[in-house]
Amino acid sequence: MGRILLGITGGIAAYKAADLASRLVKDGFGVDVVMTKNACEFITPLTFQAIVKAPVYTDSFAPIPDYSVGHISLAKRADAVVVCPATANLIGKAANGIADDLLTTVLLAAHEKPRLLCPAMNTAMWENPVVQRNIETLRALGWSVIEPESGRLACGDEGKGRLADPGPIAAFLKKLLSGDYSDR
Ligand SMILES: Cc1cc2nc3c(=O)[nH]c(=O)nc-3n(C[C@H](O)[C@H](O)[C@H](O)COP(=O)(O)O)c2cc1C
Repeated sequence: MGRILLGITGGIAAYKAADLASRLVKDGFGVDVVMTKNACEFITPLTFQAIVKAPVYTDSFAPIPDYSVGHISLAKRADAVVVCPATANLIGKAANGIADDLLTTVLLAAHEKPRLLCPAMNTAMWENPVVQRNIETLRALGWSVIEPESGRLACGDEGKGRLADPGPIAAFLKKLLSGDYSDR
């Protein structure tokens, strides 16, 4: 089926990435999981290791078993990249070419691959013009974006910002891998 790099960042919705990882594995994809340091505050690498049955990558400078340069080999072997959930912070870094951790460095090295962003954040953050500008920058750079949904947020606010459902995200990834960029 192909190999997907799943990037997870430090938002409340990080636990939903476990559902996405599980769906991708069931669909027959190989999944490489890269978590930011802050994502590990919300859910442990162990959860994803058990789901994808492979090591989870969190550190640019940790030795890896095949002696390769981790961020480059992870980018090269990905057929597609998804960041789910994507924080405002990750979106800002990716839009500006910042590479100060493993995930953002992999993203720089994977710019020719199909890439999908699944933002999730508080409504006020989502509506911040700087976040919207960064989203538009990433779209212009070839990213697909599955926008957050409206509803009740973890902080108690109502509005747009909830992570889209993992089911449609997995379905969209399949289309992306087949070269269909038509939707978003
Ligand atoms: C309880 C809590 C929940 C958070 N939820 C979100 C969120 O849903 N979306 C977001 O963009 N940032 C959220 N943040 C802020 C991020 O964790 C923060 O910007 C962090 O620097 C992101 O790091 P990363 O992008 O490297 O993972 C949250 C912070 C806390 C303490």
